[in-house]
Amino acid sequence: MKMKIAVLPGDGIGPEIIAEGVKVLEAVAERFGHEVTFNEALVGAAAIDAVGNPYPDETHELCMNSDAVLFGAVGHPRFDKDPNAKVRPEQGLLAMRKQLGLYANLRPVETFDQLIDKSPLRPELIQGVDFMCVRELTGGLYFGRPQGRSEDGNTAYDTCVYSREEIERVVRVAYEYAMKRRKKLTVVDKANILATSRLWREVAQEIAPEFPEVKTEFLFVDNAAMRMIQWPKDFDVLVTENMFGDILTDEGSVLTGSMGLLPSASIGLHTSVFEPIHGSWPEAAGKQIANPLATILSVAMLFEYAFKLTDEGTCIRQAVKKSLDAGVCTPDLLGSDGKKFKTRDVGDWIVSQIKN
Ligand code: IPM
Ligand code: MG
Repeated sequence: MKMKIAVLPGDGIGPEIIAEGVKVLEAVAERFGHEVTFNEALVGAAAIDAVGNPYPDETHELCMNSDAVLFGAVGHPRFDKDPNAKVRPEQGLLAMRKQLGLYANLRPVETFDQLIDKSPLRPELIQGVDFMCVRELTGGLYFGRPQGRSEDGNTAYDTCVYSREEIERVVRVAYEYAMKRRKKLTVVDKANILATSRLWREVAQEIAPEFPEVKTEFLFVDNAAMRMIQWPKDFDVLVTENMFGDILTDEGSVLTGSMGLLPSASIGLHTSVFEPIHGSWPEAAGKQIANPLATILSVAMLFEYAFKLTDEGTCIRQAVKKSLDAGVCTPDLLGSDGKKFKTRDVGDWIVSQIKN
C-alpha cells in the first residue's frame, strides 16, 4: 500500500518521540511491503517562532493531502508564564482539530501486566483494565464563544456550547466501539448542573434504543472520576464532552503506570491524527529521557485506524510488549536500580524486534 504521512513534531519532547515513531513506522512498512512518504510540517511554538502562526496554512494543506498525520506535542513555558500572549502554541492544536473536523478522540487505557507495580493503585484493582475513552474534540468550552475578559479586566468568561448534531455523531462513534467491545457504554456528563450536559443525556437516551445490545449507563463526571480509581475494570467505553475527556484521560493514564504510555487517534471529517496524549514536557526536551511508547502505540493505531492494517498494528504491540518484558524502558518505568534506556535506544530496540 502507498501511504502519505504528515509528520508534525511540534515542541518540547515532540521531535524526539516522533523520531522514534517514524523509525517504527518505516520498519513496519518495510517488513509488510508498504511504500511510505513522510512530509514534515510546523506546528505549535515552533511554528509561531518560524512564521508567527501556530497552525500555518501550509501545514493544514499538507494534513489535508495526507493519508494520516503523526503528531508530537505542543506547548512552551514561555507562553504558560505569559497569560496575555496574543498567540499560543495550543491554538495550533485546536485549529488543526477544528479544521480537520476531528470530532472523536479515541483514547484507549490498557494496563500492561509487566508494569502492574508501576501504578499507584493496588495490582488487584488494575490488572486487566481495558477501556476506551471517546472524547468529543471540536466543541464545548475549548471552542465556545464568547470567550474573554470584561473591559476592566476583572471578569473573565468561557462559553460551553453543544449542538444536537455534535453530540449525536460522537455518541454514535462510541456506540459503534462498544458494539465491537464488551457492549457497555458509560455516558459521562454533569446533567444535574449544566444545560449542555442535559442535552448530551437527552441525545444519548434517544440513540440508545438503536443499540439494544449495549448496556448504557449515565454517570456524573465527579462520580466517574472517582470510579475510575475505585473500579476501573467496570468501564468498557466512555463517551464525554471535550474538557471532561481531557481531564479523565490524564487520570486514566496514571492507572497504567506512566503518562508516557497512552496513545490516541482523532477521527472525523478529514485526515485522522495520531498522537500521544501526554504533553510537550519542555523540561525534558533534548535529554532523551521521554518515553516513546505512547507515540509508538499511536503508530500502531495509525495502521489500524487509518489503513485498516491490523497485522501491522499487532506487530508493533508485540514488539512493545517484548521491550517491557526485557526491561528496555525509559526512566519513568524503572526503579532506581534498573538500567535506564534513552528514548532512541527504546525505539531502536523495538525496531530490531520488528525487523526480526
Ligand atoms: C490533550 C492536551 C491538549 C488538550 C492541550 C495541549 C491543549 O492536554 O490533548 O489532552 O487540552 O486537549
Ligand atoms: Mg490533556
